[in-house]
Amino acid sequence: MTNSSHADHLQDRLLARSASIGIIGQGYVGLPLALLFAESGLSVIGLDTDDAKVQCLNAGRSFIKHIGPDRIREAVESGAYRATGNFDELAECDAILICVPTPLGRHREPDNSYIHATGREIATRLKAGQLIVLESTTYPGTTAQELQPILEEGSGLSCGTDFFLAFSPEREDPGRGDYNTRTIPKVVGGVDTISTKLAVAMYSIAITKVVPVSSAAVAESAKLLENIFRSVNIALVNELKTVFDAMDIDVWEVIEAAKTKPFGYMPFYPGPGLGGHCIPLDPFFLSWKAAEHGRWARFIELAGEINTSMPAWVVSKTAAALNDHGKSVKNSKILVLGLAYKPNVDDDRESPSYELISELSSRGALVDYCDPYFPRTAPTRKWNLGLESVALSNETLRSYDAVVVATAHEEFKDQTLYAGVPLVIDTRNIVLSQGSADVDMTLVKA
Ligand SMILES: NC(=O)c1ccc[n+]([C@@H]2O[C@H](COP(=O)([O-])OP(=O)(O)OC[C@H]3O[C@@H](n4cnc5c(N)ncnc54)[C@H](O)[C@@H]3O)[C@@H](O)[C@H]2O)c1
Repeated sequence: MTNSSHADHLQDRLLARSASIGIIGQGYVGLPLALLFAESGLSVIGLDTDDAKVQCLNAGRSFIKHIGPDRIREAVESGAYRATGNFDELAECDAILICVPTPLGRHREPDNSYIHATGREIATRLKAGQLIVLESTTYPGTTAQELQPILEEGSGLSCGTDFFLAFSPEREDPGRGDYNTRTIPKVVGGVDTISTKLAVAMYSIAITKVVPVSSAAVAESAKLLENIFRSVNIALVNELKTVFDAMDIDVWEVIEAAKTKPFGYMPFYPGPGLGGHCIPLDPFFLSWKAAEHGRWARFIELAGEINTSMPAWVVSKTAAALNDHGKSVKNSKILVLGLAYKPNVDDDRESPSYELISELSSRGALVDYCDPYFPRTAPTRKWNLGLESVALSNETLRSYDAVVVATAHEEFKDQTLYAGVPLVIDTRNIVLSQGSADVDMTLVKA
C-alpha cells in the first residue's frame, strides 16, 4: 500500500466503525476512554502491566469508585472490551492510545520513562497503517521529539507515511457530574496534517466535539496552560486567604461577593493545599522545559511555593487555636476529616491531608483520620501511615481536642456531627458557626 492508501484504509475503517483500538494503561484515564470507545461500537483492548487490574477488569469488576462495575461487565460481556497484559495483541489494533503515568521525579523533574518504555513496546510491533496517540500529560515536544524517534528507530517505519502520530490531552475530571468523557471537548494535534486528520476521525466516533490544532506541541501546551491556570489562581486565593485572615476578613465571603460580577471574574477557592494527579505536578513539566530554553516560569514556581505552604499554614492556625484553648499540639487528640484530595471521590493522590497528618504527628499530636472513602491508608510513594479511618459520628468527633476539616465530602456537611466538638478548624468552609447544633464549638476557618 502507498502512504495515502494506508491513511485512506484507516480512515475507511474508522468511518465504518470496524477499526479496533488498543489503549495502553487502564487507570483513571485509560479505562473510561476504553469503555467509551467500546460503547461507541469499536472493538477495544485495554493493556496494562498490572496483572491484578487485568484480571479484575475481565471479571467485570471496578477498582475506581466512580466507574461502576455494571459498565465494565456490559462492555466485557458484549465482547467489545477486553483487558490484557499481552503487548503482542497491539499488532491487531488500528489505533493505539497511550495513557500511562507521567510522574515527577524526586527533584520535581519530569519522568517520561513510562512513555519511552511504552514507545519501545509499540515500536517492535508497529505495523504500517497504524495510528498512535499519546494522551499522557507531558511537556511540549515529547510526541515529536521523543516518541516519534523511538517509534521510527524501533520499527524502521516512517511517521506520516507508514504510520501516524498525534497528541491529545486528557481532561478527565473524576467525580464531575456535568461533563463526562464523551462530552468534554477533545483537543487533537498531530505531528503532521494527515495524523491530525486521522486522530480527529477516530475521536469523533466517541466524542461530541473534537478540536484540531496545528501541532502536537500546541496540544501538549494547551493541557499545561489549563492546569497552570488552575494552580496559579488557587495560589492567588490561598495567599489572599492568609492576607484577609490577618485583617479578620472572611475570604469565603469575599469570593461570594466577587463572583456576583457577571464577567471578568471566575471563582477559585482556598484549601489546605493542592491535591490530585494533575494540578500539583503538571505545571512543573513546563517550568522544567522552560529552563532548557533559558526562560523562568516564575508564576508556576511562585504558585507551587504558595500552594505547598498551605498545610503548614493550617497546622499553625490549629496550633494557635489549641493554644487559645490552653492546650499544646503535643499530646492533643486531633482528627483530620477527609483523606481524599477533593469531595466525594476515592482519590487520595498527592492529597494535602497526608501533609497535615504528618506535620501534626511530628509535633507530637495524636492524630487520626476519618474518610468513608478510605477505610485504611495504603502505602504511597511518599507515605506509609498505616492508619485506619475512625467511624464518622458526633460521638467520635467530640472525643477529639480538635477536628480539622480537610475535604468537603457530602457526609461531612451534616452539621449535627460537630455539636459539642471543642474546636473545629475548617479549611473548606462547610461547617456553620452561627445557629448550628452547638454553641460551645469554636470554629476557626483556615
Ligand atoms: N487522573 C486524572 O484525572 C488525569 C487527568 C488528566 C490527565 N491525566 C494524565 O493521564 C496519564 C495517566 O494518568 P492516570 O490517572 O490514568 O494514571 P493511573 O496511575 O490511574 O493509570 C496508569 C495505568 O498505566 C499502567 N501502566 C504503567 N506503566 C505501564 C506500561 N509500561 N504499560 C502498560 N500499562 C502501564 C498502570 O498499571 C496503571 O494502571 C498521566 O499522564 C496523567 O497525568 C490524568
